[in-house]
Amino acid sequence: MLTLKINHIGYLVKKINAAIHSFETLGYRVCQETVTDEIRKVDICFMEKDGYRIELISPVSEDSVVSGLLKKYKNCPYHICYESNDFDSDFAALRADGFLPIDDLTPAPALSGRSVIFLTHPAMGMIELIRM
Ligand code: NI
Repeated sequence: MLTLKINHIGYLVKKINAAIHSFETLGYRVCQETVTDEIRKVDICFMEKDGYRIELISPVSEDSVVSGLLKKYKNCPYHICYESNDFDSDFAALRADGFLPIDDLTPAPALSGRSVIFLTHPAMGMIELIRM
């Protein structure tokens, strides 16, 4: 068993400012203002409530990495992100358990430039792994 700590839950949203407003109504507060990830062509904002951190992700252009997902799923949570303190070992263990990487380890401006990778598993869908 791995010892990964949950960093955030990622939410796809069509309009980030409208989504921020709705989450504020629910009692969330912005803990990291919106930044644009030029690599993935998305706006990203972090909010927090009761110790839970959520990441709002919204496409800034048609060719963003989430445009297809947003069309398919609408506004919805779509990944849980985990922190890895021993990346190579954790990544190998996940691969051995059937998780398949769907992109390359890439710096994430919204996460202090730490690198992240997305993986999917046929039994549970998509996760994000941060190399701490
Ligand atoms: Ni994320």
